[in-house]
Amino acid sequence: MSATLQSPFLLILSRDGREEFVKNELATRFLGAKFAFSRPGFLSFKQADAVSGGQKNWQWSSSENLIFPLRSALFVGKWLAGKGFTRAATISEDALMEALTPRVKSAAAPIEAGGSGRTIQLRFHAIDVTPVGRDDGLTRTISRHDFDLRYPGCLSDSGLAEHLPDAFAEESWNRPALTGDLILQAFAVSETEVWFGWSLLRDGEFGNPGGESGIEKPEGAPSRAYLKFSEAVALLERKIGKPIFKADDRVIEIGSAPGGACFAMLERGLKVTGVDRGAMDPVVLKNPRFSRIDSSIGDWMFPESILAEWLVLDINAEAKIAVRECKPLTDYIKRGLKGVFFTLKMNQTDLALSTERLARTTAQDLGLAFYFVRQLPSNHQELALFGLTRKGLGLKSVSSR
Ligand SMILES: C[S@@+](CC[C@H](N)C(=O)[O-])C[C@H]1O[C@@H](n2cnc3c(N)ncnc32)[C@H](O)[C@@H]1O
Repeated sequence: MSATLQSPFLLILSRDGREEFVKNELATRFLGAKFAFSRPGFLSFKQADAVSGGQKNWQWSSSENLIFPLRSALFVGKWLAGKGFTRAATISEDALMEALTPRVKSAAAPIEAGGSGRTIQLRFHAIDVTPVGRDDGLTRTISRHDFDLRYPGCLSDSGLAEHLPDAFAEESWNRPALTGDLILQAFAVSETEVWFGWSLLRDGEFGNPGGESGIEKPEGAPSRAYLKFSEAVALLERKIGKPIFKADDRVIEIGSAPGGACFAMLERGLKVTGVDRGAMDPVVLKNPRFSRIDSSIGDWMFPESILAEWLVLDINAEAKIAVRECKPLTDYIKRGLKGVFFTLKMNQTDLALSTERLARTTAQDLGLAFYFVRQLPSNHQELALFGLTRKGLGLKSVSSR
């Protein structure tokens, strides 16, 4: 099936300004990866065999564990005005149609995909990656109407819309995908050229066009950290198929000022302790479920009775230092933890992979039963590590001898 598609190009969607992280990640993970073409927030890579230098194809599994893309896709063909649609030479028409055909998910379907028997949908996302008019760096979608006007004949030339009319109908155009869904993407790279890419939605990614979370910061939330926390919660809850928090669960946030993440936690009914010398926003301070510790984490003489189900770390210090600074507290409370949300800063591109290693060892040290290490849509020069312990999953803890 689809997993057998092979393509000469891997396409990556990222945020403007994060391209260097993507290039660095690809170069480190694939010896023969060669950056080929880009637009702001859109990159393509070829691959050469590291020994022979000959062309090597990408498979869908190649991009499985990448941290930085908002979405990756296998290139399946391109359309040029006046020339029509050309399929990638490595992909037969039958293989492409097969890869795009919705099907019933097997009984072994992961829970986040809606369990067994869910029909895997084909979603079509049309995305404008041309540099003109790019302002906030967010994904720009193209409506069905505008797509037909800008690229007349493109869909009929490709033959895709005829074979798969449902996905291209006005009402399903640019609709979000669920985990496991097939996504065909049209990337408008210029006024005369459209590239097509194929993806399956992974459980660490959002299903909106371009991998956007679609979560917005409410008016009163004191900072954008609201988004980081809310995006991570959304991915965890989609993964396990239910809410992760119980009312009255306790959270400690280290680096809580001014309080965007606290705002999101308080919205969920959690009891929050914020550790920060910085000023907290009054909207958070006045909430009776919030307690403030006016201290740096290193200086905080936390009480022996301290307990918390959740730990949030978001301090603006180098990741290694941040993790080290809060280790006495994490060691103390980790047996009772249900999960963590860590934001790990990366000051330079080449620190990205060492930050990832740090995230994975920290996840192990904290006993996370599953976790994501990702750059979330709302992250800037930072990585997110978030996950659940066995307790957070509602499972019995494994006794340690
Ligand atoms: C990115 S901001 C946190 C944003 C916050 N999570 C929110 O939701 O608005 C980083 C914070 O880390 C705090 N910080 C830096 N070093 C710290 C330390 N050693 N202990 C506690 N807080 C620290 C800073 O005072 C700053 O308020």
